[in-house]
Amino acid sequence: MSDRYQAFTSSPIGKLLVKNLGLPAPVKLERWTEGAPLVDGTVVVGGSGRLGKTIAGTLDDLGASNTETAVEGQRYKALVFDATGLAGSSQLVQLQEFFTPLMRSLEKCARVLVIGTLPERAASAEERVAQRALEGFTRSLGKEIGRGSTVNLVYVAPGVEDAISSTLAFFLSPKSAYVSGQVVRIGATGATEATAVADPLKPLTGKVAIVTGASRGIGEQIARVLHRDGATVLGIDVPQAASELQAVMRDLDGDHLTLDITGKDAPQRIAQHVKEKFGGADAVVHNAGITRDRKLANMKDDRFASVIAVNVTAPERITRELLGQGLIRANGRIVGVSSIAGIAGNVGQTNYAASKAGVIGLVDSLAGELTDGITINAVAPGFIITQMTATVPFATREVGQRMNAMAQGGLPVDVAETIAWYLNPGSTAVNGNVVRVCGQMMLGA
Ligand SMILES: NC(=O)c1ccc[n+]([C@@H]2O[C@H](COP(=O)([O-])OP(=O)(O)OC[C@H]3O[C@@H](n4cnc5c(N)ncnc54)[C@H](O)[C@@H]3O)[C@@H](O)[C@H]2O)c1
Repeated sequence: MSDRYQAFTSSPIGKLLVKNLGLPAPVKLERWTEGAPLVDGTVVVGGSGRLGKTIAGTLDDLGASNTETAVEGQRYKALVFDATGLAGSSQLVQLQEFFTPLMRSLEKCARVLVIGTLPERAASAEERVAQRALEGFTRSLGKEIGRGSTVNLVYVAPGVEDAISSTLAFFLSPKSAYVSGQVVRIGATGATEATAVADPLKPLTGKVAIVTGASRGIGEQIARVLHRDGATVLGIDVPQAASELQAVMRDLDGDHLTLDITGKDAPQRIAQHVKEKFGGADAVVHNAGITRDRKLANMKDDRFASVIAVNVTAPERITRELLGQGLIRANGRIVGVSSIAGIAGNVGQTNYAASKAGVIGLVDSLAGELTDGITINAVAPGFIITQMTATVPFATREVGQRMNAMAQGGLPVDVAETIAWYLNPGSTAVNGNVVRVCGQMMLGA
C-alpha cells in the first residue's frame, strides 16, 4: 500500500524525469514522532488584533521560539498572522505586506496559519467583508505554497480567545501534515470552556474512547493514536474481524466488542457494554464504513441500503442511544468520519456520498444542542492509503493520489491526529466543524 510513484520521484532517474517533464514531485511529509518538538523551528508572528497575547503565550507553552521581526537570510518553520484587527477590505493589503517578503524564507513542510474573527460575529458590515475575504486568501496560498507546507484559517468568536491553544498546537505541528486549505470555526456554537490538561503529552489520560471499525486501516490508527495520548480504547468491529481486532486491542491494553453496528440491538449492546465496563465514555469515533460503488443506473437495492445503514444510520442510532442514556460524560466528544465524496460527490458513489453528507448532517443537527461541554465534529478524509483505497483501479487511484496540493495520498495517522485534536480536553470550543484531511484536494475545493 506504499506510494510507488513517490518513491520513484526520489530516485536519480525519477528526479530527472520530474524536472524535464514537469511531473508532480511529492515532498516527503514530516509527521510527528513521540519525543519530537511540536514546532521544530522559529515562528514569525504578524498582524495585530485581539489574539496577540494568546498566540505568544501558546507558542511559549509549546516551547516554540517565536519572533515578530524576521531577519533576512533566516529560515522559518511557521508564520502566524493575527487578522482579527482587519476591520475593512482596504486593510487586507496587510496580508500581502506581511507574507510576501517571507514566502521564500520558509523551510520545507512549513505551517501558515491565519487567525480571524467569525464573519457572522464581526462588529460591522465592513469587518465582515474583510474577515470573509481571508478564506480566499488562505485557500489560494495553500494551493501555491508547495514543498509539503500547509495553510489554514482559524476563525475565533469574540470572547473565546483563551480557548484556542489546542488548535494552534495542532495546526503548527507535524500532526496536521495532510490538513491544508481548511477553515476552522472556534466558539461558533457558544461552547467556550477549555479544560486545562495536566500532561500535554498524554492529554487523554483517564478518558475512555469508543472507536468503531478499529481492527484495521484508519480505525486501527485512530485507536493507536488515542492510546498514545493516554486514552483507554474500546474497539468495535464485525465478528469476521474478531482476531485482528483482539490483536490490536491487546497491543493497546484496550477492550474490544465484536458486533455489526447495523444490528437492531447494536446501540443498546454498545451502551450496556460501556456502562458495565466503564460507567460511561468520554468519546465515540464513528469510523466504521463501507463502499459499494456502482452508477445509480446499475445500483442494486442492497448495495445502496447497506452503505447508508453502516455509514450514517448506525452512527446516528449509536450516538442517540449513548446520549439518551447519559453515557457520554461531560466534556465528551462525538466524531463522525465523513469523506470528501460527501462534500463534492463522486461518480459511482451516490450511496456513499449520501451517507457521508449525512454524517455532516448529524454534526449540524447536534452541534447546537449538546450541553455539558460535549462536542460533535467530523473529519472528511480525501485519498488515504488503506486497504479500502487499494481496491480502487490503478488509473483512478493514481489520479486520486495526485489531485491535491501535496501531490500524494495521506496516511491513516493523518486522520487519527486530527481526531486526537478534537478529543483534546482543550478543544471544547471546537464544535460543529468538518475538517477535510485531504492535502487540499482539488475535488470539491
Ligand atoms: N481510505 C480512504 O481514503 C477514505 C476516504 C474517505 C473516508 N474514509 C472513511 O474512513 C473510514 C475508515 O476507512 P478505511 O479506509 O480504514 O476502511 P477499511 O475498510 O480498511 O476499514 C473499515 C473498518 O470498518 C469495519 N466495518 C465495516 N462495516 C462494519 C459494521 N457493519 N460493523 C462494524 N464494523 C464495520 C470493517 O470491518 C473495517 O475494519 C470509513 O468510514 C471510510 O468511509 C476513508
